[in-house]
Amino acid sequence: MTKLVLGIESSCDETACAVVSEDKKILSSVVWSQYDEHRRFGGVVPEIAARAHLEKCDLLIRECIEKAGIKFSDLSAVAVAGGPGLIGGVLVGVMTAKAIALCHNLPFIAVNHLEGHALTARLTEPVQFPYLLLLTSGGHCQLLEVMGVGQYKRLGGTIDDSAGEAFDKVAKMLEIGYPGGPNLEKRAKLGNPKAFKLPVPMKGRTGCDFSFSGLKTAVRVAVDKAGELTDAYKNDMCASFQAAVVAEVQDRLKNGIKLFKADFPNAADLVVGGGVAANTALREMLEKTAKQYKMNFYAPPVKLCTDNGVMIAWAGMERLNADLTDDFTFRARPRWPLTELNQG
Ligand code: KG4
Ligand code: ZN
Repeated sequence: MTKLVLGIESSCDETACAVVSEDKKILSSVVWSQYDEHRRFGGVVPEIAARAHLEKCDLLIRECIEKAGIKFSDLSAVAVAGGPGLIGGVLVGVMTAKAIALCHNLPFIAVNHLEGHALTARLTEPVQFPYLLLLTSGGHCQLLEVMGVGQYKRLGGTIDDSAGEAFDKVAKMLEIGYPGGPNLEKRAKLGNPKAFKLPVPMKGRTGCDFSFSGLKTAVRVAVDKAGELTDAYKNDMCASFQAAVVAEVQDRLKNGIKLFKADFPNAADLVVGGGVAANTALREMLEKTAKQYKMNFYAPPVKLCTDNGVMIAWAGMERLNADLTDDFTFRARPRWPLTELNQG
């Protein structure tokens, strides 16, 4: 029988779980977003997140197993996001996964949340190692070479905010609601990307590091000057800001492609992962840039870009297949750089 892995995700503001099979089928997937819990604070409150995970985790897992039409004993392993993330939430997931694994005598796998994003495209697209990865989420923005499961080389990352953080903060300044990224994208579609001249912080510099803080400050200064914000103003600012983010990423990516091609002359896959990868303007730029450099571009479906259980279950499957399981001494990790997974 094909292997089945249960994946649990609770590292930020989504409680999620899923069952996936070795032959790349999603048997079930449930995502419960805590938006309503955090909305009135305009961002994620860690203590509220942890309590909400605790309340929902068991129920969602039961639902997921039922929807998949299986029993716990049919599973081949239990995988959980073991970090990086908000520690209270990660602890809830890790303890739950350990309990299930212990009760049903199953292998336990602690998945690095970023590895979950990094490997998602391999579930839905024909992506082979090695590939160049743009990992862009609420907490991270990095360019990496992915050589295999647990094998990463970081080409560069953000020196201040992540792209997702910048989206969320600008959305807050413009008072367009939480969650910021998707709302900002909707308004950007209605606005003029050339309405405001905003900085593209690292444009023209060598290397693959990103910066979004100066861009965010430029929006702050403009918004403070503008006084009352009309809908038209907000739409134009969203479009201009999004265009600057996309330009920043494109500039950094071009340097990354050159480094990747020098390291792997025969490889040609460009992959994106993480919540910001749901953004259509970003995806269009990546597609175009890949073509320009004769690369193949692969992105997971939009609903698998933002946090979900499928990405954890699939990364768990990849680790199970590589014989990389964990023991019960594993501790939830608030910080956990991807490159720490490298062996030897
Ligand atoms: O991967 P993710 O769900 O959680 C983390 O691991 O951080 O990413 C969440 C981030 C948030 O900052 C959110 O605003 C951003 O992804 N995001 C978007 C879009 N959808 C989600 N940013 C821009 N455009 C979107 N459509
Ligand atoms: Zn994430």
